[in-house]
Amino acid sequence: MPLEIIRSDVAGKKVLLRTDPHLFRPTLTTTLLTDHLQSANIENRTILDLGCGIGPIAIGLALAGAGQVYATDIMPQACALALANAELNHVADRISFLHGNLFEPVQGLKFDMIVDDVSGVAEDVARLSAWFPPGVPSGGEDGTRYTVEILRQARDYLNPQGCLLFPVLSLSRRSRILEVAREVYNDRLTLVTTKRIPFNPRLKDNMRRLEELRSAGLIEFETIRSRGFWTLEIYQADTG
Ligand SMILES: C[S@@+](CC[C@H](N)C(=O)[O-])C[C@H]1O[C@@H](n2cnc3c(N)ncnc32)[C@H](O)[C@@H]1O
Repeated sequence: MPLEIIRSDVAGKKVLLRTDPHLFRPTLTTTLLTDHLQSANIENRTILDLGCGIGPIAIGLALAGAGQVYATDIMPQACALALANAELNHVADRISFLHGNLFEPVQGLKFDMIVDDVSGVAEDVARLSAWFPPGVPSGGEDGTRYTVEILRQARDYLNPQGCLLFPVLSLSRRSRILEVAREVYNDRLTLVTTKRIPFNPRLKDNMRRLEELRSAGLIEFETIRSRGFWTLEIYQADTG
């Protein structure tokens, strides 16, 4: 069973979370996504948290007044712990936790908003950085596998006037993701947040390998006075 309880600020709400070393803890992506959600109109909306992990986003949304929240993850252990965390925060009756690949568990449903936080970094980066607990899938060789699939499928699961919120990490083939996003959503794509982040010690120690990945076009990052920086962006894609 989980070892530690952490308190996380999500969409302006305090969320208690039991954690598990085999699953993701909330990250900077969680924070940037939920910071943006604070100013979004979520009251009474039906929202999908795709790649819910241990549940911070879904729980924060329910506490902040979302109508019905659905939360999915490919790891059954994540869904089970997310449900326990929803109970801990007294919002389990407003969230449906469903286990499965991407949209598979919500076939036939429609949402006002989809918040995507499914793994989106290149496989080598996921392992070198130690961000990914062993067993949690990354985004494939160039980090785009899931994000591209989500961009293409999301429209079928959104209500008119609905939107998809998704992160783009430059430690993936960012150009490919944006190419598909523009192809599917045209000019209804908005960059809502961007943050430049210095390499952590694990990334610094693996600079040579990261440079090889960059030369192969699999990831992007900047080098300023021999220090590496990657970029985290949050985009919103609107259906109409
Ligand atoms: C970066 S973590 C985000 C977790 C959570 N949203 C948070 O803020 O802590 C990515 C999550 O996506 C899940 N995931 C990876 N591939 C998936 C897929 N194909 N379908 C659904 N979930 C997936 C992982 O199991 C992991 O929990």
